[in-house]
Amino acid sequence: MPRIAVIPGDGIGLEVMREAVRVLEAVESRFSVGCELVHWDLGADRYLRDGVTITDDEFRALADDHDAVLLGALGDPRVPGNEHARDILLGLRFRLDLYVNYRPAVLLDPALSPLKNPGAIRLEVFRENTEGVYVDMGGTFKAGTRDEMAIQEDVNTWKGVERICRAAFEHAHTRGRGRVTLVDKANAMPAAGRLWRRVFAEVAADYGDVDNDAMYVDAMAMDLVRRPGRYEVVVTGNLFGDILSDLAAELVGGLGTAASANVHPGRHALFEPVHGSAPDIAGQGRANPMGAVMSAALLLDHLGAGEAAEVVEDAVRAAVAEGVRTADMGGSKTTEEVGTWIADRVLT
Ligand code: NAD
Ligand code: IPM
Ligand code: MN
Repeated sequence: MPRIAVIPGDGIGLEVMREAVRVLEAVESRFSVGCELVHWDLGADRYLRDGVTITDDEFRALADDHDAVLLGALGDPRVPGNEHARDILLGLRFRLDLYVNYRPAVLLDPALSPLKNPGAIRLEVFRENTEGVYVDMGGTFKAGTRDEMAIQEDVNTWKGVERICRAAFEHAHTRGRGRVTLVDKANAMPAAGRLWRRVFAEVAADYGDVDNDAMYVDAMAMDLVRRPGRYEVVVTGNLFGDILSDLAAELVGGLGTAASANVHPGRHALFEPVHGSAPDIAGQGRANPMGAVMSAALLLDHLGAGEAAEVVEDAVRAAVAEGVRTADMGGSKTTEEVGTWIADRVLT
């Protein structure tokens, strides 16, 4: 019986996770996947109450006693340094070595795109999830003075680059996608660029059936707005992947609909919407739960419940088509109304 750790977290994470759980419960009663959902109280409240972000034992339990994690969002204005979110979210990504951050952006309905003529968009971002500037190597010298110096190193290893490139090509190969595009900034950051481009070409050579090309990240940001339909699978580093996945989400219906999977294939997996805790709308029932629900669908697929995953995705598509939408998508429904509608649809 798969055990799923549910970490609602902070802000709208709590609201959207309630709906994702509602949908998973509907899935359970229709498909008997056998999921046991275990609620975890990690987030700003716990940190402010106990002074603890997450313990070694908790990391161990999440890694060893659960088959996957489903997370809402972390981030709270009462913790301006964001240290609890880094400890918990980046801690899980690093300690569970979840090196693939898979962020699909699929246009369900042309009317959802802010673009005039979006065409078909089916972009899948493979974001390296364990290296880059996120490792927080470096430091501060002469803090608080006018001589202050801040060094934030960008870490790229052969192992890290190779495995994310391979994951992207393997995905393209098995899912029949035509091309993998590398996104980097090799013109301004040549050391990292040389490593990424060499390893990308080596891995590409193993996949004769998949085309490949490379783009600088600035041009990519522009081209994603100009002709997003041109791109299929994108592989990139941690920071560029973070930025481009928000952009891609907005092109296909908004950040509130975007789902992600953080995976170490064969070992651990964590699913979460791409969006954050949205303090600007938290507690108002306005958050779009679709990104969280779509993340639950990715989780079901990961657990081998592909049919249930498709039913959930179809229910989200139906909600979009029938105008069951929150305000960010131009609708007037609450978070709970959208979640309940999707859960009911799953049951029918
Ligand atoms: P955000 O994603 O929380 O919000 C950006 C904008 O999108 C806001 O205007 C928000 O209202 C809107 N939005 C986001 N999700 C939405 C949804 N489901 N429905 C409707 N509108 C939605 O990004 P931010 O404001 O930069 O960050 C807020 C906090 O969240 C920060 O502490 C940040 O570090 C954190 N964060 C956490 C995660 C995560 O836990 N995975 C991801 C991103 C940001
Ligand atoms: C995301 C978030 C995180 C990131 C933050 C909260 C550290 O923006 O999951 O996209 O930058 O990876
Ligand atoms: Mn982000």
